[in-house]
Amino acid sequence: MTSFGFGRELVDHAEGAYLYLRDGRRVLDLTGGVGVLNHGHNHPRLLATRRQFAQRRRMEVHKTYFSPYVAALAHNLAQVLPGDLNMSFLPNSGAEAVEGAVKLAYKYHGGRRNTILRADISFHGKLLGSGSLTGAAQNHFAFPGIPGVVSYTYDDLESVRAAVAAHPDDVYAILVEPFSASTMRSCSAEFLHGLRTLCTEQDIVLVFDEIYTGWGKTGSMFYFMRHAGLLPDVVTTSKSFGGGKSSISAYVAREPVFRQAYDNPVDALMHSTSTTYYGFGEECATAIEAIAIAVEDDYPARARRIEQLLGPGLRRIAKQHPEAVAEVTGAGALWGVFLDGGPKVLDLAARIAPAGLARDPRLRTKLITASVINALYREHDIYTYYTLNGASPLVVGPPLVATDDDIEHFLNALDAVLDQGLNRLLSRFVAQKLGSLW
Ligand SMILES: Cc1ncc(COP(=O)(O)O)c(C=O)c1O
Repeated sequence: MTSFGFGRELVDHAEGAYLYLRDGRRVLDLTGGVGVLNHGHNHPRLLATRRQFAQRRRMEVHKTYFSPYVAALAHNLAQVLPGDLNMSFLPNSGAEAVEGAVKLAYKYHGGRRNTILRADISFHGKLLGSGSLTGAAQNHFAFPGIPGVVSYTYDDLESVRAAVAAHPDDVYAILVEPFSASTMRSCSAEFLHGLRTLCTEQDIVLVFDEIYTGWGKTGSMFYFMRHAGLLPDVVTTSKSFGGGKSSISAYVAREPVFRQAYDNPVDALMHSTSTTYYGFGEECATAIEAIAIAVEDDYPARARRIEQLLGPGLRRIAKQHPEAVAEVTGAGALWGVFLDGGPKVLDLAARIAPAGLARDPRLRTKLITASVINALYREHDIYTYYTLNGASPLVVGPPLVATDDDIEHFLNALDAVLDQGLNRLLSRFVAQKLGSLW
């Protein structure tokens, strides 16, 4: 982090799409808070909600009183989501939501099935359970995990069918990210509908992990909602669900699935967070307001507007810099720029970090991408990041409050940075990095 400057500079305050640093610089934040900041920093309506909650001394926590905040939030989730996705559980992090969904699926089958399928390029979190369901390359150390995890090839229905056939009547859940934000890959409509049909036929619980992609980010309220008639059994959400102010997540289950798993007096409290953090009033009130903003300000339409500028703009830049940009992919306000840079850059990278290259075959791409991020930040006050999963694309994920001018400013900056040539960017980045070490 110190290589980029981010790790050494202090932010004074943040508002909308901008960070204001202590040294007076104003930085355009195109990371979108890695999914958390669809609403931008410190959205005024969210600040007002939290102020009001505190001023009125609302009750934050008491498990055995009825919570109007938990109830209203669960109700509103059911209003936004299609079909009978009506039953919500509201923990704090994405990984907890994923693990809750997996436990629900396991309990739905009464413990009689023991296999769960996940995609080869998945990212579902870093706890013991969610970590073992993550198929990412960064998962290179084997912590203990849940048993019965079987991998399929992302967006390949035949591969899923083969995995199910290899475990007859034993698969209790299939987990998929319809849009994989950690690799910028997405599933086709055919694949997702095919999964739905297969899961219905085999009574497998279909879980869509939309922890990153909810609340308009990709141009529909949730990515799967762009496909009419498509319904998972469980969907997970977090990140912008809390409006960038509240650490809250959810799994939302189809009512019959939830009821079969837990709707009886013996099992009702089987999955809960006991008495620590669950459904805190202010966190829920913030999420209620965050949803209201996403609906009233039509965040999916905002993301589609950003796509109209970013999609063609990035493709134009890719065409103008074929030696640097291998591919651009994305949807709405979430795009990946896959930087490559031919054999000459390979030589330079190999000279700079021969041992590192041997350990991490993607180090070359990471170095190249880091050097572009570095130049965007140092020369244009634009903050971006790259993913550690997949082919490590540079991610452009503006908050949905970003303006047309913000997007144009970024496109011009990226163009200017790439005009310098990757070799120069890479040498300068490494020189700065070494300088910062001394
Ligand atoms: C798709 C997806 N699932 C799960 C998670 C895990 O969420 P958390 O980091 O809150 O545990 C993430 C986090 O980035 C995510 O993007």
